Amino acid sequence: MIVLVGFMGAGKSTVGRSLADRLGLPFLDSDTVIEERAGRSIAQVFASDGESAFRALEAATIADLLDGPSAVLSLGGGACGNPTTRGRLAGHTVVHLEVSFDQALARVGADPRRPVLAAPDLADRYAARQADYARVATVTVRTDARRPGEVAAEIAAALAADAGRAARLVHVGPDGPGGYDVLVGPGASARLPGLVPAGAVRALVVHTRSVATLAEGVRAMLGEAGCTAYLAEVPDAEAAKTAQVAASLWSLLGQAGFTRTDLVVGVGGGAVTDLAGFVAASWLRGVPVIQVPTTLAGMVDAAVGGKTGINIAEGKNLVGAFHPPAAVLCDTDTLRTLPAAELSPGMAEVVKHGFIADPRTLELIEADPVLAVDPTGPVLPELVERSVRVKAHVVTEDLRESSLREILNYGHTFGHAVEQVEGYLWRHGSAVSVGLVYAAALGRLSGRTSADLAQRHTDVLASVGLPVRYPDAAGERWSALLTAMSRDKKTRGATLRFVVLDGLAQPGRLEGPSEDLLRAAYREVAG
Ligand SMILES: NC(=O)c1ccc[n+]([C@@H]2O[C@H](COP(=O)([O-])OP(=O)(O)OC[C@H]3O[C@@H](n4cnc5c(N)ncnc54)[C@H](O)[C@@H]3O)[C@@H](O)[C@H]2O)c1
Ligand SMILES: [Zn+2]
Repeated sequence: MIVLVGFMGAGKSTVGRSLADRLGLPFLDSDTVIEERAGRSIAQVFASDGESAFRALEAATIADLLDGPSAVLSLGGGACGNPTTRGRLAGHTVVHLEVSFDQALARVGADPRRPVLAAPDLADRYAARQADYARVATVTVRTDARRPGEVAAEIAAALAADAGRAARLVHVGPDGPGGYDVLVGPGASARLPGLVPAGAVRALVVHTRSVATLAEGVRAMLGEAGCTAYLAEVPDAEAAKTAQVAASLWSLLGQAGFTRTDLVVGVGGGAVTDLAGFVAASWLRGVPVIQVPTTLAGMVDAAVGGKTGINIAEGKNLVGAFHPPAAVLCDTDTLRTLPAAELSPGMAEVVKHGFIADPRTLELIEADPVLAVDPTGPVLPELVERSVRVKAHVVTEDLRESSLREILNYGHTFGHAVEQVEGYLWRHGSAVSVGLVYAAALGRLSGRTSADLAQRHTDVLASVGLPVRYPDAAGERWSALLTAMSRDKKTRGATLRFVVLDGLAQPGRLEGPSEDLLRAAYREVAG
């Protein structure tokens, strides 16, 4: 949807029609649709029901239109004052037609059909609305002293230049409370101002030094959105996920007087989003958190799904809470600074999502494995989006039917065991990569997975530089691995269970495989 916003007199209808003609799309005007629905003019709705009733009707109408077929949609001048509407605009192309106050007045004159003209505080409204437009706009075009055709041409050119850069929206969980949007794509973090929850006046930006520049930009955007934002730099990687670091953040929140409606923002890898999410979950029993993951693993896994937590000496992720974010911004441009050694482990989860649910992911990687992992190329954002969609789908369905989430564990039973036996010196993704090869071997040896499909695991993972063997020809680590697998938290009771593939994108469960079978699969990855 291409949405036009701006003050009355900006030329939304005229420019909108001209733009719609150029793009071959229908033109819609939310005010006209509201009048049709209400069977009365907007002035009449204002006069008889009041402004707040009008705004509610307006928000509901816009929500419907945004869900409808593609069009150029012009919004009433006050529509962006509604935070729900602003949130809904995320993921759409939003064009702000900028007009000066004097020009706006000159254009609309004393039009009696415009109830807002009667407002005594018109100049104040103008100022407040400019801020709202800036929060949602992806493109801004000046309109003063310009003809509508000229403005439409400029917008069309800007849209063409912006094509492919528009963030894609993935919804997680129920519509309404508990549900949230994930925006994926290059530049997606710029959409932050429009997503700040209503009522947030303070924000704590938790980040590592590795993404300090981005965090500073996030602080500036929060300022634009009307929040006083504080930066909190935390130690790198797992050193961030400690009770001490969490306690230092609680103190910051306390000193700055954070209330129930204030906001925490996590900017960084999975370690930061886990920590920020946990601090948000526990402060005043839960305040909103917006996650801005900056690693591939963070985007396709840690930041989506609502699991948060910290580590203690006795183990990783033992203390935590389930706390779905208010929004997630997967800005794939941030991956440009990520060292290659950190990017490929994230690919293991992408490949996993491909095998359990999205064959197209595998095809995209196979077509050009080098391009697939290039953060400046067009394929990686698509892979991230597809992967987020798989996780979002599983997480959403899991809220209804409680065993689907288990399929995300594909490759993880053996992977976790490798991490443990290697004293957590292996990257999680590298261990999962070997774990996927192991699960495929287990599936093949138990007659569930075809030989070709099993081989495809090795080929795809190796093509993006992930390990596909766990060298141990003498089998020295087998008993430690078996013990670790038996202790894995995903294991129920005494029997071991694995996710295996009965076909591409057909995950199934393998319960209580014999030790001979487990060992035969091990010989394949260890040989
Ligand atoms: N909550 C969940 O569901 C879930 C799922 C998977 C993983 N996790 C957790 O996520 C963590 C692992 O996340 P990770 O793999 O992102 O590692 P990480 O957070 O440790 O980040 C890896 C490294 O990359 C650096 N970095 C991050 N973004 C960067 C950028 N854009 N440019 C340059 N450097 C950057 C970090 O500073 C760090 O050194 C683990 O703690 C794991 O438990 C949680
Ligand atoms: Zn994982």
